Amino acid sequence: MRYYANFKLNKTSKEVVDYFEKFNQYNINQQVCFFVSPALIDGAVKSTEHPIGTQNIASQKWGAFTGETSIEQAIDLGCKSVLIGHSERRHIFNESDALIAEKVKLAKEYEVEIVLCVGETLLEREQKFDVIKRQLTSALDNLSSYSNIIIAYEPVWAIGTGVVAQNADIDEMANYINSVLKQNYNTTLPILYGGSVKTTNVKELKTINSISGFLVGGASLEPDEFYQIIIS
Ligand code: PGA
Repeated sequence: MRYYANFKLNKTSKEVVDYFEKFNQYNINQQVCFFVSPALIDGAVKSTEHPIGTQNIASQKWGAFTGETSIEQAIDLGCKSVLIGHSERRHIFNESDALIAEKVKLAKEYEVEIVLCVGETLLEREQKFDVIKRQLTSALDNLSSYSNIIIAYEPVWAIGTGVVAQNADIDEMANYINSVLKQNYNTTLPILYGGSVKTTNVKELKTINSISGFLVGGASLEPDEFYQIIIS
């Protein structure tokens, strides 16, 4: 299984070093990656052998885009993976499907893994299959290859709320996602589940055969807790 931590807007450089001092002592033979904010990439890369990813990139390579971080800057610091379309980017920062598609297309020019997040809000729950199909196809339609892409299914109502989706619903959605990918691009991709994954529910979630791993926010912030999730 794959385990992706999303630190969101948390931790200082020192806290990242302290985190990995502890985390690096665990003997882990699973794939683990940490999404940190751009300011922490350098320190994180120097503190661990685990791959470090960035939580966002600009949709443009370079130029007059104050406050943005470019993909080349992130890669230059050692970033191996890029999170695109996280629901906090979509809903708090109003990122559109079109902008997310630009980011995915740009990231595909580089040797980085892309973790594309999709997920319906509570209001969209009735039409969740249409919403996920739209988010997937808008981001992937303009690509000529789908290598190095992972899909993270994160129902927005489950993120940071303590409410986790039901196994049967996650399984149904993961199968649906791969059916859309098969039909449109003749491919299937690894699928992660994210949204209130914790030590108390991960064992149950791991019984879902259609998913390849987890994207963990709040419960990844303490090394012990994240480790427990991995070994549960
Ligand atoms: P959560 O966040 O685990 O705190 O719900 C998941 C995410 O936003 O990726």
